[in-house]
Amino acid sequence: MSLPAPGNASADIGVTGMGVMGSNLARNLARNGHRVAIHNRSVERTEQVMAAHGAQARFLPTTSMEEFVACLERPRVALVMVQAGQATDDVIDDLASRMEPGDIIVDCGNSLFTDTRRREARLREQGLHFVGCGVSGGEEGALWGPSIMPGGSQESYDRLGPMFEKIAAKVDGEPCCTRIGADGAGHFVKMVHNGIEYADMQVIGEAYHLLRSALGLEPAAIADVFAQWNSGELDSYLLEITVEVLRQVDPRTGRPLVDVILDAAGQKGTGVWTTQVALDLGVPVTGIAEATFARALSSSLPQRVAAQTFAAGSRSWRVTDADTFIEDVRQALYASKLIAYSQGLGEIRAAALEYGWEIDLAALARIWRGGCIIRARFLGEIARACDTDPDLPLLLADDFFATRVAAALPSWRRVVSDAALHGVPTPVFSSSLAYYDGIRTSRLPACLIQGQRDFFGAHTYRRIDDEGTFHTRWAEPGRPEVKA
Ligand code: 6PG
Repeated sequence: MSLPAPGNASADIGVTGMGVMGSNLARNLARNGHRVAIHNRSVERTEQVMAAHGAQARFLPTTSMEEFVACLERPRVALVMVQAGQATDDVIDDLASRMEPGDIIVDCGNSLFTDTRRREARLREQGLHFVGCGVSGGEEGALWGPSIMPGGSQESYDRLGPMFEKIAAKVDGEPCCTRIGADGAGHFVKMVHNGIEYADMQVIGEAYHLLRSALGLEPAAIADVFAQWNSGELDSYLLEITVEVLRQVDPRTGRPLVDVILDAAGQKGTGVWTTQVALDLGVPVTGIAEATFARALSSSLPQRVAAQTFAAGSRSWRVTDADTFIEDVRQALYASKLIAYSQGLGEIRAAALEYGWEIDLAALARIWRGGCIIRARFLGEIARACDTDPDLPLLLADDFFATRVAAALPSWRRVVSDAALHGVPTPVFSSSLAYYDGIRTSRLPACLIQGQRDFFGAHTYRRIDDEGTFHTRWAEPGRPEVKA
């Protein structure tokens, strides 16, 4: 098929990058009444998209970047949906060289927020708006209604908002799209969204592993348990799809599909970024970090082979009361999941301070209720908590969640300690409990660490009963203390 020249026709918006995400976003925009110019580096792909969807969608296919930019109505809006990194830089440079002040370039990929900040600053000098925009919901979401997290200027949102709000998922009639904040804020929250996604997937995995190890339940039986959990407070997209995955039978072997999938989890990097950035900001996102490391551990195949003969040093697990155990695991799952969301929001709060972003956490929680991968019933409660006290130092301090986690504690402790006794790894369940105990403990052994640091490196310490910084002269007789 060859593409017709666009002639004098003009488009409200353009999408470059016709991978599945890009073409689905373009189809969503077209279905919602927009005239959409489409472009891809290789024209064949654009031809394929036209052949498959051109009849239903009001697309304006273009064969070059020049043609693509020329047919966009001013101020132009071009969405970029290509691989993060150099490919994104190349497309942005190409677009920017053909655009005029006031035009808007939107990067809808999973770009690193520092790249977005750099690109935004550069394009601003040229008078262009650059919007780093998180889009969540996978391929289906892009087509039928994603959660959209645009950063960038208010001016750019004034132009983009109506279009994005139209194509976004809706919850209670509200679009799952809001302007997050300046420059890299949109990509930052999308990064943390993905970090939470890693933790959420891992805690569901740990619950599965426990039910299987301790009760010997088959995948289909665990699916039934999860389906029941999904009808209550744990209702979430990730739990819902887990039920589907667990029920799937492998057509080749007749075994549960999950039993023939290699247990080595992949990743494209957003969990790693969330953890790295949290380390830089000094924010403990232990659940997300453990989930990321759990993927790395699962993929450390030579090391796992070498460790197969290690002693377990544990007893065999015989659960006498299956119903109580299942309920304990459900409680542990709820609490650990909540810790991940609390920590993730903490990272966003810290970044907002660091980068001067005014991020409305309640609005963010609201747009995560639909469309995105971490959509879950309890995000409504999180939004309520952030609305009630926008300065809440941590989500867990909200009365509702504090009470709810306190109620989960006996179960949570039983699950984590039993898992340790019986040698079943629960990295996120247990590290989240350690976080909870750490954050609520009035006096931590960090005092001793400060003493050690001062001993070997004169790093100084602060006292609980005096202002200022002190150093003990450890080598001198009597070890006098001096004000540093
Ligand atoms: C989404 C997803 C999406 C994708 C990520 C995570 O919000 O739609 O998070 O962005 O699935 O790339 O993928 P990895 O697990 O491969 O890191």
